[in-house]
Amino acid sequence: MSFTPRVFSGIQPSGDLHLGNYLGAIRRFVPLQHTHETIYCVVDMHAITVWQEPEDLRRATREVAAAYIAAGIDPKKAIVFNQSQVVQHAELAWVFNCIARIGWMYRMTQFKDKAGKNSENVSLGLLAYPSLMAADILLYKATQVPVGDDQKQHLELTRDIAAKFNNDYAASIAAQGLDAEFFPITEPLIAGPATRIMSLRDGTRKMSKSDPSDQSRISLLDDADAIAKKIKRATTDPEPLPETLEGLSGRPEADNLVGIYAALADRSKAEVLAEFGGKGWGVFKPALADLAVQQLAPMADEMRRLVADTTTIDAILRDGAERAGAIAERTMNQVRSIVGFIR
Ligand code: TRP
Repeated sequence: MSFTPRVFSGIQPSGDLHLGNYLGAIRRFVPLQHTHETIYCVVDMHAITVWQEPEDLRRATREVAAAYIAAGIDPKKAIVFNQSQVVQHAELAWVFNCIARIGWMYRMTQFKDKAGKNSENVSLGLLAYPSLMAADILLYKATQVPVGDDQKQHLELTRDIAAKFNNDYAASIAAQGLDAEFFPITEPLIAGPATRIMSLRDGTRKMSKSDPSDQSRISLLDDADAIAKKIKRATTDPEPLPETLEGLSGRPEADNLVGIYAALADRSKAEVLAEFGGKGWGVFKPALADLAVQQLAPMADEMRRLVADTTTIDAILRDGAERAGAIAERTMNQVRSIVGFIR
């Protein structure tokens, strides 16, 4: 059987969205809505795997939804909703907790990074996080998932869970008259290296909301002035820009700023170097600042406007949750029968 092509992705509402989230994820979601059925989720249940103040969680959830829309996702076309409003996510995640093995979870590098030496004292949810992510995706039988590089391992685990479910329950799936490949083996759409955005202070570290320096990242809510200042103050080496890609190796800050320019301009890094190679930072930084301001400042204005209008944002999320819920319930109905739950 072939599955309807369907795209699902999610972003956690935990802290400020920045340029890395935009170029690595949100911006790539936009064109897919014209070619695919698309579902874009604000994964609030994932966020609480580490402590979130309830008021902050509400604000951050609306901010992610606002960012989706300000970036050009049309909530009439794509389904935009917050995870917790579709209770089937939690329900399927429980079934998957009983399919996945604990060892699979301990092997996740994101878990190891987040838990550190403290692995006995983090929430059980942090360990089971990938099982909920698999539920997000498979509830909609999504065939493609656009994610950053760092989520590749979680996607592989989603495929392992789908395959194990299909296999463990093969007889029951057949007895229900359902197709043997009940859950699809989802394909990742991994962002290329050009969309791996690094800190503006240190080109060897990822741009991150947890970096104590606000100068290290461009927030999606920054105004034109802040965007331009941060780019002009970004750390660089003293050399002019190289003429070729090879010239960027060993120059992480230069590589990052050229990568940001390329991603914003929808051009390759080689094309950017063809234009700016041999020029100094005094030429390149203002050009990058102009480009960033021109693209990001209107989006930030729109985001601020949307976030202030909680009635509209909440109505969009509720409408999305209803549409998502209809698909989710269809899958869950089948899953309950497959597993042997009496209804
Ligand atoms: N784990 C993802 C991240 O931290 C967020 C996420 C949750 C997700 N569920 C998802 C991404 C499903 C893609 C599909 O970035």
